Amino acid sequence: MTDKTPLTVIGLGPMGQAMVSRFLDAGHPTTVWNRTPARADALVARGAVRADTAADAVAANRLVIVSLTDYAAMHDILDGVDLAGRVVVNLSSETPDKTVKAAAWLAERGAELLVGGVMANAEMVGHPAA
Ligand SMILES: NC(=O)c1ccc[n+]([C@@H]2O[C@H](COP(=O)([O-])OP(=O)(O)OC[C@H]3O[C@@H](n4cnc5c(N)ncnc54)[C@H](OP(=O)(O)O)[C@@H]3O)[C@@H](O)[C@H]2O)c1
Repeated sequence: MTDKTPLTVIGLGPMGQAMVSRFLDAGHPTTVWNRTPARADALVARGAVRADTAADAVAANRLVIVSLTDYAAMHDILDGVDLAGRVVVNLSSETPDKTVKAAAWLAERGAELLVGGVMANAEMVGHPAA
């Protein structure tokens, strides 16, 4: 049992993988989902929980971090998923107009959007230099 916030990460490109690795280092129970399942293998071996579907990944935790190429991918993945009560943190690099539209899209589904822009490369995630 840990007092660290449990969370879900959707999207395991270089950036998502780096973030999950740091979350595991810090002891956060972390559920992961990626369109290409094999990209989760090394993280699951380190203790991440693999969700079979994006819906299962969202159901697992209130805090859902999204690290995808763009917001179109988020819409592809989350359309039709029950998002009620979720806090979705989208760290994809995107334009302000798409961010504003995504906030409204999530609000219609009972979820909240928090947005961040990553100003580091994957190797720097969790490093003091970042
Ligand atoms: N890498 C960096 O150094 C860096 C630095 C600053 C900011 N960023 C930003 O951070 C975000 C993530 O970076 P990244 O390098 O990890 O990006 P990436 O390589 O583009 O990551 C792609 C991820 O998005 C998934 N994806 C893309 N389109 C999808 C779709 N239609 N349906 C389902 N999954 C889809 C991919 O799944 P598959 O594995 O199945 O292809 C993969 O998990 C991007 O917005 C990027 O601009 C990255």
